[in-house]
Amino acid sequence: MTIAVVKELETVEPRSVSTQKPSKIGIPKEIYPDERRVAATPETVKTLQKLGFEVLIESGAGAAASYLDDAYKAVGCQIIPDATAIWSSADIVLKVRPPETHEASMLREGGTLISFIYPAQNADLLSQLAERQATVLAMDAVPRITRAQKMDALSSMANLAGYRAVIEAANNFGRFFTGQITAAGKVPPAKVLIIGAGVAGLAAIGAAKGLGAIVRAFDTRLVVKEQVESMGGEFLELSFAEDGSGEGGYAKVMSDEFIKAEMALFAEQAKEVDIIITTALIPGKRAPVLITEEMVASMRPGSVVVDMAAEQGGNCEVTKPNEVYRYKDVTIVGLTDLPSRMANQASQLYGTNLCHLLSDMGGANDYKVNFGDEVVRGALVLHNGDLTWPPPKLEPKATEQKTSEEQKSKKVEAKSAPPVPSASSSKSSTNLLWPILAALALVGVGIGAPESFLSHFTVFILACFVGWQVIWNVKPALHTPLMSVTNAISGIIIIGGMLQISSDLSSPTTILGAIAILLGTINVSGGFLVTQRMLKMFQK
Ligand code: NAI
Repeated sequence: MTIAVVKELETVEPRSVSTQKPSKIGIPKEIYPDERRVAATPETVKTLQKLGFEVLIESGAGAAASYLDDAYKAVGCQIIPDATAIWSSADIVLKVRPPETHEASMLREGGTLISFIYPAQNADLLSQLAERQATVLAMDAVPRITRAQKMDALSSMANLAGYRAVIEAANNFGRFFTGQITAAGKVPPAKVLIIGAGVAGLAAIGAAKGLGAIVRAFDTRLVVKEQVESMGGEFLELSFAEDGSGEGGYAKVMSDEFIKAEMALFAEQAKEVDIIITTALIPGKRAPVLITEEMVASMRPGSVVVDMAAEQGGNCEVTKPNEVYRYKDVTIVGLTDLPSRMANQASQLYGTNLCHLLSDMGGANDYKVNFGDEVVRGALVLHNGDLTWPPPKLEPKATEQKTSEEQKSKKVEAKSAPPVPSASSSKSSTNLLWPILAALALVGVGIGAPESFLSHFTVFILACFVGWQVIWNVKPALHTPLMSVTNAISGIIIIGGMLQISSDLSSPTTILGAIAILLGTINVSGGFLVTQRMLKMFQK
């Protein structure tokens, strides 16, 4: 069966807030071979309980991650012996891996599932869940925006995986990473090349550097140069005028000429370095093949290639997914379960990502599937059985017109979509009402107010308009630099307020000046506090 109903944002908006209040969360044991992670740890169960949920967990679900049943029992979790009872009685099922067919068939009718789903690769699973009228949130589809960082499970897993890739490399490399001068002779440091400096790549740079290796890194996005250098790596550059920065902090597909040029660079590096760790990927695309068989053959005996993109086809031509083997005396590591190899911490981080998402959705008491929340909307792939994926693009203003045109044509295709009364005409009349009222109020002020007030008022209105335009159009990725701009503006406001204050404490100018100083100071000190917290995140 295929899913016939393709929901569009405009038509689902009026029904976008579910009124059903879930109370029970179920955690089944992961059944994917060798998967050791679990979707909740005793620590995250406590958070879920604070959010108002009752938590049921399958017996032994956390054992492979060293979280035993007793620990769950101690925090008041119900231990359920079989998976069927969990799937059929929980309002929300939390999982790590996408469910297998027989698991999905146990989900209660109208139930909610939150896990990794990979909707682009799992159309059959989505159809099956749609038949059960399920609401499904895919943790792999949480948008990479500043506000969603605490829910970004792909990043938290990639961070662990990057570290583990270095550990696996070290395990298969028969030498020190760090250089040593001993009585028995001099040992040179290992040279590590990291291809792709996204989340996993940066974590790998940090780990390899920490072990004492010389680390080089390459990425198509020039913006990561500073990040590579701040982690202690050397950023390799091509003399090629093309930048790979795409949407939402991800990369874009590069031209064939660029790929050729970077492969020439890798061919040179392969002869020099001991370890290559590849993480190059563009979401939704097959991983680009960047390390050829000849490059592997040209590496020194005993070298190691860790291909983190093995699951997406591999960056290395000779990678075998899920296998570690030797190709012409070079060890090729194609493991696809790196986060699962650090199951204890991976479960804790993933469980915390889930708690943040559920908290963002209002916890048990104010639970809602809010289409207006860009994080929820991004992750939502099914809503009460209706397909809601892919979500509309995040940049609403510029694309609004185009999207609604596209959605209109989709609507024609989606003949089986239930008719929804159009809200657009009443919406547009409400949209017009406010500007008309504002214009009338301005005319009123213009007629009635004294001339001296009018000149100040005009400047005030213009300032509001310019300020609103400037801030509204800033992309979420730029919110941090924006904070420093608003701090500077607040500084100007404080000075303006100080100039207005006089000894006459009851005059309106003094009162307004004092309010301006107070608000400006709150903004400035708040800005400093946030900056301080962000800096702490980077301190060891
Ligand atoms: P990311 O999207 O943050 O980073 C990928 C990086 O590759 C980006 O910086 C991008 O600019 C770069 N890139 C893309 N095309 C390139 C090219 N032609 N040359 C050089 N760089 C290029 O992704 P993230 O989260 O760091 O994950 C990296 C990889 O690790 C992905 O393939 C992911 O699936 C994989 N992964 C593997 C795990 C495992 O167990 N093996 C676990 C977690 C992630």
